[in-house]
Amino acid sequence: MQTALALRGLDVRYGPVQAVRGVDLTAARGGVTALLGANGAGKTSTVMAVAGARRIAGGSVFIFGRDMTGATPDAIVRAGVAISPEGRRVFSALSVEDNLTLAGSVVGDAATALARKAAMMERFPILGERRKQLAGLLSGGEQQMLAVARALMSGPRLLLMDEPSLGLAPQMVDRIFGIIEELRDEGISILLVEQNAALALDVADHAVVLANGVVAAAGPPQDLKSDKLLQAAYLAA
Ligand SMILES: Nc1ncnc2c1ncn2[C@@H]1O[C@H](COP(=O)(O)OP(=O)(O)OP(=O)(O)O)[C@@H](O)[C@H]1O
Ligand SMILES: [Mg+2]
Repeated sequence: MQTALALRGLDVRYGPVQAVRGVDLTAARGGVTALLGANGAGKTSTVMAVAGARRIAGGSVFIFGRDMTGATPDAIVRAGVAISPEGRRVFSALSVEDNLTLAGSVVGDAATALARKAAMMERFPILGERRKQLAGLLSGGEQQMLAVARALMSGPRLLLMDEPSLGLAPQMVDRIFGIIEELRDEGISILLVEQNAALALDVADHAVVLANGVVAAAGPPQDLKSDKLLQAAYLAA
């Protein structure tokens, strides 16, 4: 199997707190892998470590088969990884368009960056309509679209999405999950962190459940859905 991402024995620490302990995870190329678990389970720490934004205390990170353990965030972007972070983190005081332009600064060639920006406004028409508006004035769902669009500006092959549906109205949640499927169908591999386990398990083809920084379960979504004990312990909505 060709893998987009393989974690082997990943450890992440914050001083004395070990947030991620010996995590193994394999995300298939072209698939959606759900990373689930309760508050504080270590999901964000895991994706931030993959993105190079968090120091890795132990273990290895392979991206499309290459050992990228300890690589800089820039090198990880160049390896084809982008993140739409928890809490969206758009630049509120900048316009929608400037948010995209800034995200496009990682693209070496200006014509490609411009073309990608145009493609984002086409994919997310609301961003096109609001291009001159400050990002901070967008609704939560629109900001989430912008966060995903920003991540897509680097032309990733692996997209890390940390809680894209958190706090959104049901209609917007549907739209976000629709986008996840679209991107998957376009061949982008996705690691999807979600607290909405039911929805994530519907879209994913593989799932990993973290509990207190360790892998509590991993396998086909169907198996996790039918495991009542697991559901009750870690995946209760
Ligand atoms: N900057 C930090 N400093 C110290 N401890 C941290 C820091 N960030 C996270 N932690 C701790 O690491 C553990 C894992 O946190 P993490 O944010 O990775 O969990 P999570 O699964 O993403 O949770 P949530 O669902 O709430 O987003 C928690 O115990 C948390 O308190
Ligand atoms: Mg988190």
